[in-house]
Amino acid sequence: MFLTDEQKRMRDGERGEPVQVAMEMLCALGEIYGAEKLIPIKSAHCAGLSLKSHGIAGMKWVEDMAAKGAKVVVPTTMNVIGVDRSRDLGLPEDWVVPQLRIEKGYEAMGCFGTSSCVPYYYSFLPKFGEHIAWAESSAVVFTNSVIGARDNREGGPSAWAAGITGFTPYYGLHLDENRTGDILFRVTTELHGIADYGALGNYVGKIVGEKIPVFENLGHPTTEELVYFGAAMASAGGVALFHAIGLTPEAPDRETVFKGKKCETVELGKKELEQGYANLTSGKSRDVDFVALGCPHCSLTQVAQIAGMLAGKRVKDGVTMWIHTNMAVKAMAKELGYVKLIEDAGAVLTQDLCVVLGNPEVLGFKTLATHSPKMAFYAPGGNGLDVWYGSEEKCVQAALTGRWEG
Ligand code: F3S
Repeated sequence: MFLTDEQKRMRDGERGEPVQVAMEMLCALGEIYGAEKLIPIKSAHCAGLSLKSHGIAGMKWVEDMAAKGAKVVVPTTMNVIGVDRSRDLGLPEDWVVPQLRIEKGYEAMGCFGTSSCVPYYYSFLPKFGEHIAWAESSAVVFTNSVIGARDNREGGPSAWAAGITGFTPYYGLHLDENRTGDILFRVTTELHGIADYGALGNYVGKIVGEKIPVFENLGHPTTEELVYFGAAMASAGGVALFHAIGLTPEAPDRETVFKGKKCETVELGKKELEQGYANLTSGKSRDVDFVALGCPHCSLTQVAQIAGMLAGKRVKDGVTMWIHTNMAVKAMAKELGYVKLIEDAGAVLTQDLCVVLGNPEVLGFKTLATHSPKMAFYAPGGNGLDVWYGSEEKCVQAALTGRWEG
């Protein structure tokens, strides 16, 4: 891979050990994927920041890099972590303390302690065509598809290395020729709400793997529905980019998105939608003891909707309800009175936390109700929870009654 003289000096240690380590990582990655060069990036997003991903060895490595003077050179945001920095959720101390040390280590390197998988909801919004190095599969698929930024599905270490150097290897979805569609999906059923989009996304993700799906007749999704749709495909498959004809910026029409490439066409109707719901449901007992919403983190609109559903009601004794968002949305929700509605109902609006990475199983929960296709996908294997998957309305109902209906 070609390196400029400046990049060679970085690799050879002229700017200190952290830059050298980061450059060595990027060079190795570039060689593996056949990149011709490194290109400058506008921003990075580090993921895999939970204690579950880092372990104690990873925590010590982060602290070591920070102590040796590592500093990011482009705006670098941080993904969710395994705790809520604003409150005690009852998670064990030997989990919370190292998790906070990891967070502090990245902050010492100049990363923004955003602790969210949706930093694009506030301040950190990439532009169309911009090269970025973001990790977190749900954020990658959103920035690539809905915004039209150029991003590979980075891992935590490669996103960190890109933030430290300001470069990323030029391969994969940074190249125009790798962004054309692979399979056309014609949607023949109406979609209503996040759960429908999430269920269909799960169904498609399982079929396409890492290919680029193109959708025709996807309806008129909200931003949040597109976020959950992408997150579902990125978790059930390895989708990092999708196009929706007439909706997403690189897909004004079929010709532009396929560039003459022959493609298979698949119809997505009611049956496929129902299969998506079935894939995401593993509940055995209809007695629900845990309700979690906000994976990816809720927008202010979602928080307002859920608060409205809870207003004047009460979460059933024995049921825990967590609604996940980030510090910025929570601060706004507090000012606007939504936090009070949620807390008066006995639910909790968390910040920073990813429920999948936060070990909720140690609190003894057995059966989860969620509207999140990503959480429903990971929670059975990752957290040992049985899952009921459905709309926000059904999840709120489950919180109020302790039963999953329908
Ligand atoms: Fe975000 Fe964690 Fe869900 S990273 S998308 S809250 S699994």
